[in-house]
Amino acid sequence: MAFPQSFIDELIARNPIEDVVGQYVSLKRSGSNLFGLCPFHGEKTASFSVAPDKGIYYCFGCHKGGGAVNFMMEVEGLSYPDAVRALAKRAGMEVPEDEQYQSRYRHQERLWALMKEAGRFFHEQLFAPVGAECLSYVQKRGLTKSTVTRFGIGFAPNSWNSLVDAMRKKGYTDQELRDADLVGEKNGRIYDRFRNRLMFPIFDVRGNVIGFGGRVLDDSKPKYLNSNETLIFNKRKNLFGMNFAKKTKEPYIILVEGNIDVVALHQYGFDNAVASLGTSLTEEQVTLLSRYTEQVVLTYDTDEAGQRAAQRAIPMLEKAGLKVKVLQMKDAKDPDEFLHKFGADRFKLLLQDSSDRVEYQLNAIRQKYDLKVDAEKISFVQEAAGLICTLDSSVKREVYGSRVAEAAGISMDAMKLEVNKAFKRRTAMEKKKQEKIDLAPVRALQPKERSIRYDNIKSAIAEEGVIAQILREPALLEQVGKITEKDFSVSLFGKVFSQLRARHMQGLDVSIAVLEELTPEEVSHITGVAQRHQGTVNQDAFTDCVNRILSEGQSTRVSTDDDLRALQEKLKAKKGTNL
Ligand code: UTP
Ligand code: MN
Repeated sequence: MAFPQSFIDELIARNPIEDVVGQYVSLKRSGSNLFGLCPFHGEKTASFSVAPDKGIYYCFGCHKGGGAVNFMMEVEGLSYPDAVRALAKRAGMEVPEDEQYQSRYRHQERLWALMKEAGRFFHEQLFAPVGAECLSYVQKRGLTKSTVTRFGIGFAPNSWNSLVDAMRKKGYTDQELRDADLVGEKNGRIYDRFRNRLMFPIFDVRGNVIGFGGRVLDDSKPKYLNSNETLIFNKRKNLFGMNFAKKTKEPYIILVEGNIDVVALHQYGFDNAVASLGTSLTEEQVTLLSRYTEQVVLTYDTDEAGQRAAQRAIPMLEKAGLKVKVLQMKDAKDPDEFLHKFGADRFKLLLQDSSDRVEYQLNAIRQKYDLKVDAEKISFVQEAAGLICTLDSSVKREVYGSRVAEAAGISMDAMKLEVNKAFKRRTAMEKKKQEKIDLAPVRALQPKERSIRYDNIKSAIAEEGVIAQILREPALLEQVGKITEKDFSVSLFGKVFSQLRARHMQGLDVSIAVLEELTPEEVSHITGVAQRHQGTVNQDAFTDCVNRILSEGQSTRVSTDDDLRALQEKLKAKKGTNL
Protein backbone atom coordinates (compact mmCIF):
# COMPACT_ATOMS: atom_id res chain seq x y z
CA MET A 1 0.00 0.00 0.00
CA ALA A 2 0.94 3.57 -0.33
CA PHE A 3 2.39 4.29 3.09
CA PRO A 4 5.89 2.91 3.61
CA GLN A 5 5.92 -0.31 5.59
CA SER A 6 8.33 0.98 8.21
CA PHE A 7 6.01 3.88 8.88
CA ILE A 8 3.00 1.62 9.38
CA ASP A 9 5.01 -0.66 11.65
CA GLU A 10 6.02 2.24 13.83
CA LEU A 11 2.49 3.61 13.78
CA ILE A 12 1.16 0.33 15.13
CA ALA A 13 3.89 0.06 17.72
CA ARG A 14 3.14 3.55 18.97
CA ASN A 15 -0.62 3.04 19.11
CA PRO A 16 -1.24 0.13 21.50
CA ILE A 17 -4.57 -1.40 20.66
CA GLU A 18 -5.84 -1.18 24.23
CA ASP A 19 -5.19 2.58 24.29
CA VAL A 20 -6.80 3.21 20.92
CA VAL A 21 -9.89 1.15 21.74
CA GLY A 22 -9.87 2.47 25.31
CA GLN A 23 -10.74 5.94 24.01
CA TYR A 24 -14.11 4.57 22.90
CA VAL A 25 -14.83 1.53 25.04
CA SER A 26 -14.38 1.02 28.73
CA LEU A 27 -12.35 -2.16 29.05
CA LYS A 28 -11.92 -4.63 31.88
CA ARG A 29 -9.04 -7.07 32.07
CA SER A 30 -9.74 -10.77 32.16
CA GLY A 31 -6.65 -12.94 31.82
CA SER A 32 -4.45 -11.75 28.99
CA ASN A 33 -7.40 -10.13 27.19
CA LEU A 34 -9.55 -7.08 27.87
CA PHE A 35 -13.30 -7.05 27.48
CA GLY A 36 -15.96 -4.39 26.98
CA LEU A 37 -19.24 -3.61 25.28
CA CYS A 38 -18.94 -3.76 21.50
CA PRO A 39 -19.09 -0.28 19.96
CA PHE A 40 -20.25 -1.73 16.65
CA HIS A 41 -23.42 -3.60 17.46
CA GLY A 42 -24.74 -2.46 20.81
CA GLU A 43 -25.12 -5.16 23.42
CA LYS A 44 -25.78 -5.75 27.08
CA THR A 45 -23.03 -8.24 27.90
CA ALA A 46 -19.42 -7.74 26.91
CA SER A 47 -18.45 -9.88 23.95
CA PHE A 48 -15.92 -7.43 22.58
CA SER A 49 -12.35 -8.48 23.25
CA VAL A 50 -8.96 -6.80 22.92
CA ALA A 51 -5.76 -8.81 22.84
CA PRO A 52 -2.87 -6.41 23.57
CA ASP A 53 -0.22 -9.04 22.83
CA LYS A 54 -1.60 -9.59 19.34
CA GLY A 55 -2.52 -5.97 18.75
CA ILE A 56 -6.06 -6.88 17.77
CA TYR A 57 -9.69 -6.56 18.79
CA TYR A 58 -12.47 -9.02 18.06
CA CYS A 59 -16.19 -9.12 18.80
CA PHE A 60 -17.59 -12.59 19.41
CA GLY A 61 -21.06 -11.15 18.85
CA CYS A 62 -20.84 -9.36 15.52
CA HIS A 63 -17.53 -10.89 14.35
CA LYS A 64 -15.89 -7.57 13.62
CA GLY A 65 -12.21 -7.51 14.29
CA GLY A 66 -8.79 -6.29 13.24
CA GLY A 67 -5.93 -4.04 14.31
CA ALA A 68 -5.79 -0.43 15.46
CA VAL A 69 -6.15 0.97 11.95
CA ASN A 70 -9.23 -1.16 11.24
CA PHE A 71 -10.71 -0.09 14.55
CA MET A 72 -10.39 3.59 13.66
CA MET A 73 -11.89 2.94 10.22
CA GLU A 74 -14.92 1.22 11.75
CA VAL A 75 -15.54 3.41 14.73
CA GLU A 76 -15.04 6.76 13.02
CA GLY A 77 -16.20 5.71 9.58
CA LEU A 78 -12.83 6.66 8.09
CA SER A 79 -11.07 5.48 4.97
CA TYR A 80 -7.80 3.59 5.41
CA PRO A 81 -5.53 6.59 4.87
CA ASP A 82 -7.65 8.79 7.12
CA ALA A 83 -7.52 6.19 9.88
CA VAL A 84 -3.74 6.08 9.49
CA ARG A 85 -3.64 9.87 9.68
CA ALA A 86 -5.77 9.89 12.81
CA LEU A 87 -3.47 7.40 14.54
CA ALA A 88 -0.39 9.28 13.41
CA LYS A 89 -1.79 12.45 14.93
CA ARG A 90 -2.54 10.59 18.15
CA ALA A 91 1.04 9.38 18.40
CA GLY A 92 2.52 12.69 17.24
CA MET A 93 4.00 11.20 14.09
CA GLU A 94 4.49 12.87 10.74
CA VAL A 95 2.67 11.18 7.83
CA PRO A 96 4.70 10.52 4.68
CA GLU A 97 1.96 11.35 2.19
CA ASP A 98 1.66 9.47 -1.03
CA GLU A 99 0.59 11.26 -4.21
CA GLN A 100 -2.50 9.21 -4.90
CA TYR A 101 -3.86 9.31 -1.38
CA GLN A 102 -3.03 12.90 -1.01
CA SER A 103 -5.11 13.65 -4.06
CA ARG A 104 -8.05 11.54 -2.91
CA TYR A 105 -7.92 13.18 0.50
CA ARG A 106 -7.69 16.59 -1.09
CA HIS A 107 -10.67 15.74 -3.28
CA GLN A 108 -12.67 14.81 -0.23
CA GLU A 109 -11.71 18.03 1.49
CA ARG A 110 -12.72 19.97 -1.61
CA LEU A 111 -16.14 18.32 -1.60
CA TRP A 112 -16.67 19.16 2.05
CA ALA A 113 -15.71 22.75 1.36
CA LEU A 114 -17.95 22.86 -1.71
CA MET A 115 -20.96 21.51 0.19
CA LYS A 116 -20.39 24.05 2.91
CA GLU A 117 -20.24 26.85 0.35
CA ALA A 118 -23.37 25.56 -1.36
CA GLY A 119 -25.16 25.48 1.99
CA ARG A 120 -24.08 29.02 2.66
CA PHE A 121 -25.29 30.06 -0.79
CA PHE A 122 -28.74 28.52 -0.30
CA HIS A 123 -28.99 30.10 3.13
CA GLU A 124 -28.23 33.55 1.73
CA GLN A 125 -30.78 33.14 -1.05
CA LEU A 126 -33.51 32.59 1.53
CA PHE A 127 -33.07 36.16 2.72
CA ALA A 128 -32.49 37.66 -0.73
CA PRO A 129 -35.40 39.04 -2.79
CA VAL A 130 -35.60 35.79 -4.82
CA GLY A 131 -36.24 33.90 -1.59
CA ALA A 132 -39.24 35.96 -0.47
CA GLU A 133 -41.82 33.31 -1.25
CA CYS A 134 -39.78 30.57 0.41
CA LEU A 135 -39.18 32.73 3.46
CA SER A 136 -42.88 33.27 3.89
CA TYR A 137 -43.37 29.50 3.58
CA VAL A 138 -40.78 29.02 6.34
CA GLN A 139 -42.65 31.50 8.51
CA LYS A 140 -45.95 29.82 7.76
CA ARG A 141 -44.40 26.55 8.96
CA GLY A 142 -43.62 28.33 12.22
CA LEU A 143 -39.81 28.18 12.02
CA THR A 144 -38.01 31.01 13.80
CA LYS A 145 -35.02 32.90 12.47
CA SER A 146 -32.71 31.30 15.00
CA THR A 147 -33.87 27.80 14.04
CA VAL A 148 -33.27 28.58 10.38
CA THR A 149 -29.78 29.77 11.21
CA ARG A 150 -28.95 26.88 13.52
CA PHE A 151 -29.93 24.27 10.92
CA GLY A 152 -28.53 26.28 8.03
CA ILE A 153 -31.86 26.07 6.23
CA GLY A 154 -31.88 27.71 2.80
CA PHE A 155 -33.53 28.19 -0.55
CA ALA A 156 -32.52 26.88 -3.96
CA PRO A 157 -33.73 29.52 -6.46
CA ASN A 158 -35.94 28.56 -9.37
CA SER A 159 -33.13 28.78 -11.88
CA TRP A 160 -30.95 26.41 -13.92
CA ASN A 161 -27.63 27.98 -13.11
CA SER A 162 -27.59 30.13 -9.99
CA LEU A 163 -25.72 27.62 -7.84
CA VAL A 164 -23.49 26.51 -10.71
CA ASP A 165 -22.50 30.12 -11.42
CA ALA A 166 -21.90 30.97 -7.79
CA MET A 167 -19.73 27.90 -7.20
CA ARG A 168 -17.75 28.36 -10.40
CA LYS A 169 -17.02 31.87 -9.26
CA LYS A 170 -15.63 30.45 -6.04
CA GLY A 171 -13.27 28.28 -8.08
CA TYR A 172 -15.03 24.92 -8.00
CA THR A 173 -14.81 22.83 -11.15
CA ASP A 174 -17.71 21.23 -13.01
CA GLN A 175 -16.31 17.85 -12.06
CA GLU A 176 -16.39 18.77 -8.39
CA LEU A 177 -20.00 19.91 -8.74
CA ARG A 178 -20.84 16.58 -10.37
CA ASP A 179 -18.99 14.61 -7.70
CA ALA A 180 -20.97 16.42 -5.00
CA ASP A 181 -24.22 15.57 -6.82
CA LEU A 182 -25.25 19.20 -6.91
CA VAL A 183 -25.91 19.25 -10.65
CA GLY A 184 -27.67 17.42 -13.44
CA GLU A 185 -26.26 17.19 -16.95
CA LYS A 186 -27.68 17.41 -20.43
CA ASN A 187 -25.80 17.53 -23.72
CA GLY A 188 -22.57 17.98 -21.86
CA ARG A 189 -23.83 20.97 -19.90
CA ILE A 190 -24.43 20.94 -16.18
CA TYR A 191 -27.37 22.63 -14.47
CA ASP A 192 -28.60 23.14 -10.90
CA ARG A 193 -30.16 19.96 -9.59
CA PHE A 194 -32.06 21.63 -6.76
CA ARG A 195 -34.52 24.27 -7.98
CA ASN A 196 -37.23 26.16 -6.16
CA ARG A 197 -36.86 24.09 -3.01
CA LEU A 198 -36.51 24.63 0.70
CA MET A 199 -33.07 23.25 1.47
CA PHE A 200 -32.08 21.24 4.54
CA PRO A 201 -28.34 20.66 4.79
CA ILE A 202 -27.49 17.19 6.08
CA PHE A 203 -24.57 17.14 8.51
CA ASP A 204 -22.46 14.20 9.59
CA VAL A 205 -21.79 13.81 13.33
CA ARG A 206 -18.64 15.87 13.00
CA GLY A 207 -20.61 18.79 11.54
CA ASN A 208 -19.58 18.61 7.87
CA VAL A 209 -22.29 19.29 5.30
CA ILE A 210 -22.45 16.02 3.39
CA GLY A 211 -25.74 16.28 1.50
CA PHE A 212 -29.02 18.14 1.07
CA GLY A 213 -32.70 17.36 1.30
CA GLY A 214 -34.79 19.79 -0.74
CA ARG A 215 -38.53 20.12 -0.07
CA VAL A 216 -41.02 21.58 -2.54
CA LEU A 217 -42.93 24.68 -1.43
CA ASP A 218 -46.30 23.33 -2.49
CA ASP A 219 -47.92 19.96 -3.00
CA SER A 220 -46.05 18.99 -6.14
CA LYS A 221 -44.07 15.78 -6.48
CA PRO A 222 -41.58 14.55 -5.59
CA LYS A 223 -41.94 16.18 -2.21
CA TYR A 224 -38.26 15.80 -1.44
CA LEU A 225 -35.23 15.68 -3.66
CA ASN A 226 -32.25 14.27 -1.77
CA SER A 227 -28.56 14.09 -2.54
CA ASN A 228 -27.50 10.73 -3.89
CA GLU A 229 -24.52 8.87 -2.47
CA THR A 230 -21.20 10.59 -3.03
CA LEU A 231 -17.64 10.15 -1.84
CA ILE A 232 -18.64 12.00 1.35
CA PHE A 233 -22.34 11.10 1.67
CA ASN A 234 -23.67 7.72 2.78
CA LYS A 235 -27.37 7.84 3.62
CA ARG A 236 -27.37 4.56 5.47
CA LYS A 237 -24.76 5.69 7.94
CA ASN A 238 -26.12 9.10 8.95
CA LEU A 239 -29.10 10.54 10.76
CA PHE A 240 -30.57 13.98 10.26
CA GLY A 241 -29.94 16.07 13.41
CA MET A 242 -27.42 13.66 14.98
CA ASN A 243 -24.73 16.36 14.97
CA PHE A 244 -26.84 18.27 17.51
CA ALA A 245 -28.56 15.38 19.27
CA LYS A 246 -25.25 13.75 20.16
CA LYS A 247 -24.64 16.59 22.61
CA THR A 248 -27.95 16.25 24.45
CA LYS A 249 -28.06 15.78 28.20
CA GLU A 250 -31.18 13.64 27.94
CA PRO A 251 -30.61 9.90 28.38
CA TYR A 252 -32.63 9.09 25.27
CA ILE A 253 -32.97 10.03 21.60
CA ILE A 254 -36.28 10.87 19.94
CA LEU A 255 -36.48 9.16 16.55
CA VAL A 256 -38.94 10.75 14.10
CA GLU A 257 -39.68 10.47 10.39
CA GLY A 258 -39.40 13.95 8.93
CA ASN A 259 -36.69 16.57 8.67
CA ILE A 260 -39.29 19.15 9.61
CA ASP A 261 -40.18 17.19 12.73
CA VAL A 262 -36.56 17.23 13.85
CA VAL A 263 -36.27 20.96 13.25
CA ALA A 264 -39.54 21.72 15.06
CA LEU A 265 -38.59 19.54 18.03
CA HIS A 266 -35.24 21.28 18.42
CA GLN A 267 -36.99 24.65 18.18
CA TYR A 268 -39.30 23.64 21.03
CA GLY A 269 -36.38 22.62 23.20
CA PHE A 270 -36.06 18.92 22.41
CA ASP A 271 -32.42 18.86 21.41
CA ASN A 272 -32.34 15.07 21.14
CA ALA A 273 -34.46 14.50 18.01
CA VAL A 274 -33.14 12.79 14.86
CA ALA A 275 -34.63 11.34 11.66
CA SER A 276 -33.44 8.78 9.16
CA LEU A 277 -32.65 10.26 5.78
CA GLY A 278 -35.70 9.44 3.72
CA THR A 279 -34.96 5.73 3.98
CA SER A 280 -36.40 3.25 6.41
CA LEU A 281 -34.17 2.81 9.43
CA THR A 282 -30.93 0.96 8.61
CA GLU A 283 -28.69 -1.28 10.73
CA GLU A 284 -25.93 1.29 10.43
CA GLN A 285 -28.19 4.03 11.78
CA VAL A 286 -29.14 1.79 14.70
CA THR A 287 -25.46 1.30 15.44
CA LEU A 288 -24.91 5.03 15.28
CA LEU A 289 -27.74 5.57 17.77
CA SER A 290 -26.37 2.97 20.13
CA ARG A 291 -23.08 4.82 20.20
CA TYR A 292 -24.72 7.88 21.72
CA THR A 293 -27.65 6.63 23.77
CA GLU A 294 -29.20 3.68 25.56
CA GLN A 295 -32.83 4.48 24.90
CA VAL A 296 -34.86 5.52 21.87
CA VAL A 297 -38.35 6.99 21.89
CA LEU A 298 -40.00 6.18 18.58
CA THR A 299 -42.20 9.04 17.49
CA TYR A 300 -43.28 8.09 14.01
CA ASP A 301 -46.23 9.58 12.16
CA THR A 302 -49.65 8.40 13.32
CA ASP A 303 -50.68 7.15 9.87
CA GLU A 304 -50.53 3.49 8.97
CA ALA A 305 -47.18 3.77 7.21
CA GLY A 306 -45.66 5.38 10.29
CA GLN A 307 -46.99 2.70 12.60
CA ARG A 308 -45.73 -0.03 10.31
CA ALA A 309 -42.33 1.61 10.27
CA ALA A 310 -42.35 1.67 14.08
CA GLN A 311 -43.15 -2.06 14.28
CA ARG A 312 -40.23 -2.72 11.97
CA ALA A 313 -37.85 -0.48 13.92
CA ILE A 314 -38.60 -1.99 17.36
CA PRO A 315 -36.80 -5.33 16.94
CA MET A 316 -33.89 -3.67 15.13
CA LEU A 317 -33.31 -1.28 18.01
CA GLU A 318 -33.81 -3.93 20.67
CA LYS A 319 -31.36 -6.26 19.01
CA ALA A 320 -28.75 -3.55 19.45
CA GLY A 321 -29.46 -3.49 23.18
CA LEU A 322 -31.39 -0.23 23.07
CA LYS A 323 -34.39 0.29 25.30
CA VAL A 324 -37.36 1.21 23.15
CA LYS A 325 -40.38 3.29 24.00
CA VAL A 326 -43.12 4.41 21.68
CA LEU A 327 -44.77 7.81 21.90
CA GLN A 328 -48.29 8.12 20.59
CA MET A 329 -49.94 11.34 19.55
CA LYS A 330 -53.59 12.12 19.19
CA ASP A 331 -55.11 14.86 17.04
CA ALA A 332 -51.88 15.48 15.12
CA LYS A 333 -50.28 13.49 12.34
CA ASP A 334 -46.68 14.17 13.35
CA PRO A 335 -44.57 15.90 16.03
CA ASP A 336 -44.31 19.09 13.96
CA GLU A 337 -48.07 19.51 13.83
CA PHE A 338 -48.46 18.50 17.45
CA LEU A 339 -45.98 21.07 18.73
CA HIS A 340 -47.51 23.94 16.81
CA LYS A 341 -51.00 22.93 17.92
CA PHE A 342 -50.43 22.03 21.55
CA GLY A 343 -46.97 23.28 22.56
CA ALA A 344 -43.90 21.84 24.27
CA ASP A 345 -45.44 21.11 27.66
CA ARG A 346 -48.07 18.84 26.19
CA PHE A 347 -45.36 17.06 24.21
CA LYS A 348 -43.36 16.59 27.40
CA LEU A 349 -46.38 14.88 28.92
CA LEU A 350 -46.53 12.55 25.94
CA LEU A 351 -42.86 11.75 26.41
CA GLN A 352 -43.47 10.88 30.05
CA ASP A 353 -46.45 8.75 29.06
CA SER A 354 -44.69 7.01 26.23
CA SER A 355 -45.22 3.35 26.74
CA ASP A 356 -42.62 0.69 26.53
CA ARG A 357 -42.67 -1.18 23.29
CA VAL A 358 -44.47 -4.27 24.63
CA GLU A 359 -47.44 -2.22 25.69
CA TYR A 360 -47.44 -0.57 22.33
CA GLN A 361 -47.28 -3.85 20.47
CA LEU A 362 -50.00 -5.42 22.62
CA ASN A 363 -52.23 -2.48 21.83
CA ALA A 364 -51.54 -2.88 18.14
CA ILE A 365 -52.46 -6.57 18.31
CA ARG A 366 -55.60 -5.83 20.25
CA GLN A 367 -56.80 -3.33 17.69
CA LYS A 368 -56.81 -6.04 15.06
CA TYR A 369 -59.54 -8.05 16.75
CA ASP A 370 -63.14 -7.59 17.79
CA LEU A 371 -63.18 -9.09 21.28
CA LYS A 372 -66.92 -9.51 21.24
CA VAL A 373 -66.55 -12.31 18.70
CA ASP A 374 -65.32 -15.51 20.35
CA ALA A 375 -63.20 -16.71 17.45
CA GLU A 376 -61.43 -13.35 17.29
CA LYS A 377 -60.95 -13.32 21.04
CA ILE A 378 -59.11 -16.65 20.76
CA SER A 379 -56.89 -15.35 17.96
CA PHE A 380 -56.16 -12.26 20.04
CA VAL A 381 -55.05 -14.34 23.04
CA GLN A 382 -52.91 -16.57 20.84
CA GLU A 383 -51.17 -13.73 19.08
CA ALA A 384 -50.61 -11.85 22.33
CA ALA A 385 -49.23 -15.02 23.95
CA GLY A 386 -46.79 -15.24 21.03
CA LEU A 387 -45.47 -11.81 21.92
CA ILE A 388 -45.43 -12.35 25.69
CA CYS A 389 -43.52 -15.63 25.49
CA THR A 390 -40.57 -13.76 23.95
CA LEU A 391 -40.12 -11.57 27.05
CA ASP A 392 -37.06 -12.39 29.09
CA SER A 393 -38.38 -11.84 32.61
CA SER A 394 -41.11 -13.74 34.41
CA VAL A 395 -42.32 -10.53 36.05
CA LYS A 396 -42.89 -8.96 32.65
CA ARG A 397 -44.67 -12.07 31.39
CA GLU A 398 -46.88 -12.02 34.46
CA VAL A 399 -47.71 -8.30 34.21
CA TYR A 400 -48.51 -8.28 30.51
CA GLY A 401 -50.14 -11.69 30.65
CA SER A 402 -52.61 -10.51 33.26
CA ARG A 403 -53.48 -7.50 31.13
CA VAL A 404 -54.28 -9.69 28.17
CA ALA A 405 -56.24 -12.09 30.37
CA GLU A 406 -58.28 -9.23 31.69
CA ALA A 407 -58.96 -7.78 28.26
CA ALA A 408 -60.08 -11.15 26.96
CA GLY A 409 -62.00 -12.04 30.09
CA ILE A 410 -60.12 -15.29 30.73
CA SER A 411 -58.40 -16.57 33.88
CA MET A 412 -54.70 -15.99 34.51
CA ASP A 413 -54.20 -19.76 34.59
CA ALA A 414 -55.64 -20.14 31.12
CA MET A 415 -53.42 -17.29 29.94
CA LYS A 416 -50.32 -18.93 31.42
CA LEU A 417 -51.13 -22.15 29.60
CA GLU A 418 -51.44 -20.22 26.38
CA VAL A 419 -48.10 -18.50 26.90
CA ASN A 420 -46.43 -21.84 27.65
CA LYS A 421 -47.88 -23.32 24.51
CA ALA A 422 -46.61 -20.37 22.49
CA PHE A 423 -43.20 -20.75 24.09
CA LYS A 424 -43.04 -24.44 23.15
CA ARG A 425 -44.10 -23.68 19.60
CA ARG A 426 -41.34 -21.13 19.39
CA THR A 427 -38.62 -23.38 20.77
CA ALA A 428 -39.72 -26.19 18.48
CA MET A 429 -39.48 -23.84 15.54
CA GLU A 430 -36.06 -22.63 16.56
CA LYS A 431 -34.86 -26.18 17.05
CA LYS A 432 -36.03 -27.07 13.56
CA LYS A 433 -34.18 -24.09 12.19
CA GLN A 434 -31.03 -25.13 14.03
CA GLU A 435 -31.33 -28.69 12.77
CA LYS A 436 -31.59 -27.44 9.26
CA ILE A 437 -28.38 -25.52 9.78
CA ASP A 438 -26.64 -28.53 11.34
CA LEU A 439 -27.68 -30.73 8.47
CA ALA A 440 -26.17 -28.39 5.95
CA PRO A 441 -22.47 -28.78 6.74
CA VAL A 442 -21.21 -26.77 3.83
CA ARG A 443 -23.30 -23.81 4.79
CA ALA A 444 -22.61 -24.16 8.53
CA LEU A 445 -18.87 -23.99 8.01
CA GLN A 446 -19.04 -21.10 5.61
CA PRO A 447 -17.65 -17.78 6.90
CA LYS A 448 -20.13 -15.28 8.31
CA GLU A 449 -18.66 -12.64 6.03
CA ARG A 450 -20.65 -12.95 2.85
CA SER A 451 -17.89 -11.89 0.52
CA ILE A 452 -15.70 -14.84 1.54
CA ARG A 453 -16.58 -18.37 0.42
CA TYR A 454 -15.01 -21.72 1.15
CA ASP A 455 -15.26 -23.84 -1.97
CA ASN A 456 -13.21 -26.66 -0.54
CA ILE A 457 -14.20 -26.83 3.11
CA LYS A 458 -11.68 -29.51 4.02
CA SER A 459 -8.75 -27.55 2.71
CA ALA A 460 -10.15 -24.26 4.03
CA ILE A 461 -10.25 -25.61 7.58
CA ALA A 462 -6.62 -26.72 7.29
CA GLU A 463 -5.74 -23.30 5.90
CA GLU A 464 -7.45 -21.63 8.85
CA GLY A 465 -5.27 -23.73 11.12
CA VAL A 466 -2.05 -22.78 9.36
CA ILE A 467 -2.83 -19.09 9.38
CA ALA A 468 -3.94 -19.10 13.01
CA GLN A 469 -0.83 -20.97 14.17
CA ILE A 470 1.53 -18.79 12.17
CA LEU A 471 0.01 -15.71 13.73
CA ARG A 472 0.66 -17.18 17.15
CA GLU A 473 4.13 -18.51 16.35
CA PRO A 474 5.74 -16.81 13.31
CA ALA A 475 8.77 -19.13 13.48
CA LEU A 476 6.51 -21.79 11.98
CA LEU A 477 6.92 -19.92 8.71
CA GLU A 478 10.29 -21.62 8.47
CA GLN A 479 8.58 -25.01 8.41
CA VAL A 480 6.02 -24.55 5.70
CA GLY A 481 8.03 -26.46 3.15
CA LYS A 482 7.10 -25.79 -0.42
CA ILE A 483 3.65 -24.34 0.19
CA THR A 484 2.98 -21.35 -2.01
CA GLU A 485 0.18 -18.84 -2.20
CA LYS A 486 -1.38 -20.91 -4.99
CA ASP A 487 -1.82 -24.01 -2.85
CA PHE A 488 -4.45 -22.25 -0.77
CA SER A 489 -8.01 -22.89 -1.88
CA VAL A 490 -9.16 -19.67 -0.20
CA SER A 491 -7.38 -16.84 -1.96
CA LEU A 492 -7.63 -14.63 1.11
CA PHE A 493 -5.57 -17.12 3.12
CA GLY A 494 -3.06 -17.39 0.31
CA LYS A 495 -2.68 -13.63 0.22
CA VAL A 496 -2.27 -13.38 3.98
CA PHE A 497 0.17 -16.27 3.99
CA SER A 498 2.47 -14.72 1.43
CA GLN A 499 2.39 -11.33 3.13
CA LEU A 500 3.26 -12.85 6.48
CA ARG A 501 6.02 -14.97 5.01
CA ALA A 502 7.53 -12.01 3.18
CA ARG A 503 7.56 -10.01 6.38
CA HIS A 504 9.05 -12.81 8.42
CA MET A 505 11.87 -13.29 5.91
CA GLN A 506 12.67 -9.59 6.21
CA GLY A 507 12.78 -9.92 9.98
CA LEU A 508 9.65 -7.82 10.42
CA ASP A 509 6.83 -8.30 12.89
CA VAL A 510 4.13 -10.75 11.96
CA SER A 511 0.64 -9.94 13.19
CA ILE A 512 -2.85 -9.19 11.97
CA ALA A 513 -2.34 -5.53 12.63
CA VAL A 514 0.23 -5.27 9.84
CA LEU A 515 -1.75 -6.97 7.08
CA GLU A 516 -2.33 -4.89 3.99
CA GLU A 517 -4.75 -4.55 1.11
CA LEU A 518 -7.55 -6.36 2.87
CA THR A 519 -11.18 -5.26 3.07
CA PRO A 520 -12.69 -4.74 6.53
CA GLU A 521 -14.63 -7.98 6.08
CA GLU A 522 -11.44 -9.85 5.27
CA VAL A 523 -9.63 -8.44 8.28
CA SER A 524 -12.58 -9.38 10.49
CA HIS A 525 -12.53 -12.87 9.11
CA ILE A 526 -8.81 -13.37 9.71
CA THR A 527 -9.16 -12.00 13.22
CA GLY A 528 -12.05 -14.38 13.85
CA VAL A 529 -9.97 -17.31 12.61
CA ALA A 530 -7.12 -16.34 14.95
CA GLN A 531 -9.48 -16.05 17.90
CA ARG A 532 -11.31 -19.29 17.19
CA HIS A 533 -8.21 -21.43 16.99
CA GLN A 534 -6.95 -20.72 20.48
CA GLY A 535 -4.51 -22.77 22.50
CA THR A 536 -0.78 -23.32 22.29
CA VAL A 537 1.00 -24.20 19.11
CA ASN A 538 1.19 -27.89 18.36
CA GLN A 539 3.93 -28.96 15.94
CA ASP A 540 2.24 -32.13 14.75
CA ALA A 541 -1.07 -30.43 14.17
CA PHE A 542 0.69 -27.75 12.17
CA THR A 543 2.53 -30.21 9.97
CA ASP A 544 -0.71 -32.06 9.49
CA CYS A 545 -2.45 -28.89 8.26
CA VAL A 546 0.42 -28.08 5.93
CA ASN A 547 0.28 -31.56 4.43
CA ARG A 548 -3.45 -31.37 4.01
CA ILE A 549 -3.17 -28.10 2.13
CA LEU A 550 -0.51 -29.60 -0.12
CA SER A 551 -2.53 -32.71 -0.92
CA GLU A 552 -5.78 -30.82 -1.41
CA GLY A 553 -4.06 -28.25 -3.52
CA GLN A 554 -2.73 -30.97 -5.84
CA SER A 555 -5.79 -33.19 -6.01
CA THR A 556 -8.71 -32.28 -8.16
CA ARG A 557 -11.09 -34.47 -6.21
CA VAL A 558 -14.26 -32.70 -5.25
CA SER A 559 -15.39 -33.37 -1.71
CA THR A 560 -18.66 -35.17 -1.36
CA ASP A 561 -21.28 -34.27 1.12
CA ASP A 562 -20.44 -37.39 3.13
CA ASP A 563 -16.84 -36.31 3.47
CA LEU A 564 -18.02 -33.02 4.78
CA ARG A 565 -20.36 -34.52 7.29
CA ALA A 566 -17.62 -36.78 8.60
CA LEU A 567 -15.30 -33.82 8.81
CA GLN A 568 -17.83 -31.83 10.70
CA GLU A 569 -18.32 -34.63 13.22
CA LYS A 570 -14.58 -34.73 13.73
CA LEU A 571 -14.45 -31.01 14.24
CA LYS A 572 -17.22 -31.20 16.80
CA ALA A 573 -15.36 -33.94 18.68
CA LYS A 574 -12.16 -31.93 18.60
CA LYS A 575 -13.66 -28.70 19.91
CA GLY A 576 -11.70 -27.43 22.86
CA THR A 577 -8.52 -29.32 21.98
CA ASN A 578 -5.71 -28.12 19.83
CA LEU A 579 -6.12 -28.22 16.17
P1 UTP B 1 -42.74 13.50 5.15
O1 UTP B 1 -43.56 13.38 3.92
O2 UTP B 1 -43.41 13.23 6.45
O3 UTP B 1 -42.06 14.95 5.14
O4 UTP B 1 -41.52 12.54 4.93
P2 UTP B 1 -41.77 16.04 6.28
O5 UTP B 1 -40.33 16.36 6.25
O6 UTP B 1 -42.33 15.61 7.57
O7 UTP B 1 -42.52 17.32 5.71
P3 UTP B 1 -43.98 17.85 6.00
O8 UTP B 1 -44.20 17.93 7.46
O9 UTP B 1 -44.95 16.94 5.33
O10 UTP B 1 -43.93 19.18 5.36
C1 UTP B 1 -40.63 12.23 5.97
C2 UTP B 1 -39.22 12.21 5.44
O11 UTP B 1 -39.09 11.28 4.40
C3 UTP B 1 -38.20 11.75 3.41
C4 UTP B 1 -37.68 13.10 3.89
O12 UTP B 1 -36.46 12.91 4.56
C5 UTP B 1 -38.77 13.54 4.85
O13 UTP B 1 -38.29 14.43 5.82
N1 UTP B 1 -38.87 11.88 2.10
C6 UTP B 1 -40.20 12.15 2.00
C7 UTP B 1 -38.14 11.75 0.96
O14 UTP B 1 -36.93 11.50 1.02
N2 UTP B 1 -38.73 11.87 -0.26
C8 UTP B 1 -40.05 12.18 -0.39
O15 UTP B 1 -40.55 12.34 -1.54
C9 UTP B 1 -40.81 12.29 0.77
MN1 MN C 1 -43.94 14.48 8.12
